[in-house]
Amino acid sequence: MTTKQAIQTIQRTFDINHIFAYRVFSLADKSNLLDDSARIIAEKPKPFLKWVGGKRQLLEQFRLTKLYPPEFFDPTRNSYFEPFVGGGAVFFDLLPERGYLSDLNRELVITYNVIKNNVDELIRSLKEHKNDKEYFLKVRSQDTNKLSDIAIASRFIYLNRTCFNGLYRVNSQGKFNVPFGKYSNPQICDEQNLRNVSNALSGVEIKHQDYKEVLKKAKKGDYIYFDPPYYPVSKTASFTSYTSESFLDKEQIELRDVFVELHNRGCFVMLSNSDTPFINKIYSGINGVRITKVYAGRAINSKGSGRGKITEVLVTNY
Ligand SMILES: C[S@@+](CC[C@H](N)C(=O)[O-])C[C@H]1O[C@@H](n2cnc3c(N)ncnc32)[C@H](O)[C@@H]1O
Repeated sequence: MTTKQAIQTIQRTFDINHIFAYRVFSLADKSNLLDDSARIIAEKPKPFLKWVGGKRQLLEQFRLTKLYPPEFFDPTRNSYFEPFVGGGAVFFDLLPERGYLSDLNRELVITYNVIKNNVDELIRSLKEHKNDKEYFLKVRSQDTNKLSDIAIASRFIYLNRTCFNGLYRVNSQGKFNVPFGKYSNPQICDEQNLRNVSNALSGVEIKHQDYKEVLKKAKKGDYIYFDPPYYPVSKTASFTSYTSESFLDKEQIELRDVFVELHNRGCFVMLSNSDTPFINKIYSGINGVRITKVYAGRAINSKGSGRGKITEVLVTNY
């Protein structure tokens, strides 16, 4: 059996995408390929954060379009880029061996790198946290400029697990301001998953930078997934406070220009956004680029009354 055939066998047997199948193949004991693949797949890491705008519920919709992941992307030769990584739902679904993740949220990026490089110390620190309101408020008020990277990561995961709805929101000074979530028994330290995440990140570079930096590295044949802060469906639906920067018309147009530049370079480019006239307009009429609608059951408001079938767009150049 050739490598290609073995990857296809893994992909079909376990009904997984070809990018993850390649990782499984490269890690598996070749003398016991399918049994060992099953073991590796069972240890697949999950996203370690709850993230607003997280793409976890949308992955099935993406798959149904047959555009995800791009069939002709070759993970044995090319790299995956996710420049607005957030909770990384797509990264954790694909688990490419060679990947470049980045985000403008500094503490988030520190957290990824601490999991990658110092998972034992992080686990030790996470085990010390308490799920009570007074303690939560004390941790929330810490000045992160004075903390070590381990303490920043530990605080970041702790707040994400215990705050209201796992939201991430900062005020205009960049200070985290989500209230205590009152969960009876939140899992603050999922030790096994953190170790699996740490292994999965070993060949991956994670940087604190603007998404435009992707232009410096991406080459023909690479796969880039853009999941920017969504363009607001209405004024009240606006949710752009992952960082203290805003991401509105001007920023969306700049992103479209970066998309087109990567398209011209021969990359596989995929972008998700809200299904609004503005987004449809700025991606229309570009040769080779198409807009596909997908259904999303998004829930970011507290009462849950905004839940339902909202459409979103998937813009691809393939
Ligand atoms: C919609 S979220 C991504 C969600 C992610 N795909 C997931 O599944 O969790 C958008 C992310 O973009 C980041 N961001 C905002 N402006 C950015 C910029 N100019 N460059 C890079 N990242 C940015 C935010 O910090 C946030 O994590």
